Amino acid sequence: MRVRTRSVLALHPLEESQTETVRLRTLLPSSFLLLPYNLVPSMRIFITGICGFVGSAIARRIRESLHDAKIFGIDNLSRAGSERNRRLAADGIRVNHGDMRLASDLESLPEADWVIDAAALPSVLAGVDNRSSSRQLVEHNLFGTVNILEYCRRWNSGFILLSTSRVYAIRPLSEISLEVEGDRFVPQFSKIKLAGFSRAGVSEEFSNAAPVSLYGATKLASEALALEFGETFGFPVWINRCGVLAGAGQFGTAEQGIFSFWLHAWRAGKPLRYIGFGGRGLQVRDALHPEDLGDLVLKQIQNSEPKRSRLCNASGGIDQAMSLLELSNWCARRFGSREVSADLQERPFDIPWLVLDSARAHTDWNWKPARSLSSILTEIADHAERNPDWLDLMA
Ligand SMILES: NC(=O)c1ccc[n+]([C@@H]2O[C@H](COP(=O)([O-])OP(=O)(O)OC[C@H]3O[C@@H](n4cnc5c(N)ncnc54)[C@H](O)[C@@H]3O)[C@@H](O)[C@H]2O)c1
Repeated sequence: MRVRTRSVLALHPLEESQTETVRLRTLLPSSFLLLPYNLVPSMRIFITGICGFVGSAIARRIRESLHDAKIFGIDNLSRAGSERNRRLAADGIRVNHGDMRLASDLESLPEADWVIDAAALPSVLAGVDNRSSSRQLVEHNLFGTVNILEYCRRWNSGFILLSTSRVYAIRPLSEISLEVEGDRFVPQFSKIKLAGFSRAGVSEEFSNAAPVSLYGATKLASEALALEFGETFGFPVWINRCGVLAGAGQFGTAEQGIFSFWLHAWRAGKPLRYIGFGGRGLQVRDALHPEDLGDLVLKQIQNSEPKRSRLCNASGGIDQAMSLLELSNWCARRFGSREVSADLQERPFDIPWLVLDSARAHTDWNWKPARSLSSILTEIADHAERNPDWLDLMA
């Protein structure tokens, strides 16, 4: 008898044999093994931080694509604004109030084939910003991940971690020689000889040496534990190191969700500052829409090819990069011009040019972002016009 799993059906028809079964057990959630395709139940997906900007967008993206999937998640609603996404229930997505730090909050949750970990204190300033302590940061971002990994071990669920570009070493990134070209910094590529750094940006080979920020360290440690749990207990793990994510509905603040914050604040006439790097707004980031990240996650939960690298960057890339000053120019064209003040004070962990190279995600997963930067900005601007008081949610 030929045995297939839904998740590998398209690419890997599998012969049933002891060896294959053993090999597969290290790659696929238990419930997908040894079942004829027509008996494979609908996929069950558990999303942590499901009311967050990214968790909710991924939940919706999966709902659109896998109509019969059972999607559920938890959120402790600690992110101001996240309570708005409780309405996911209207799309047949079950939202539970729960906290990843409490193992007991996970005990009564049903079994899942895949867990997508999108709960975190996501700011690079978390733990040092007087809003959360360093201990709280570690409890949310690392101990929370450990509780989820225990859940995956219990149910043999696959695990997808949303990691971050902030796992890359700050010192070499902040020392890159830059020149000003138009309204942005541009690295002097010919002078830079750093492993994992090219015209396409920062790749997975770039250094992870400390300092990476406390936030980055909780993610780096989560990555290491996730890979070890997956190897030790035989469940699949994929790690996506995300660059800046941006889109409508993000709970943007000056510290996190900068594209959303900037557009909303510009339209609402709130104070704006170019912080650090000469106070001119020349610092550069790329942007990715969470729906595009959702498409990568969809590929990962449907296709556990063993030869792929367990870890990849997922980011907008060089074509979707812009400086803050260029973003201001965009806002001026859309909403009219206004003043932005200069703040020369450098913030810890700020980096003047950070663009991720997602070539590995393209090679391994045939994935690249579909949403252009201008479509992302337009979406946020439209949302800002429809929701003039949006930033008050975050106050
Ligand atoms: N937004 C970005 O630009 C970006 C970039 C790189 C990586 N990431 C990662 O993506 C993930 C999602 O980020 P986001 O932008 O949606 O952030 P978000 O703050 O909008 O969402 C995180 C959600 O997790 C919840 N949460 C926090 N701690 C929790 C806990 N202990 N238990 C349960 N729920 C908890 C919050 O209430 C919130 O709803 C995070 O892991 C973040 O590190 C985000």
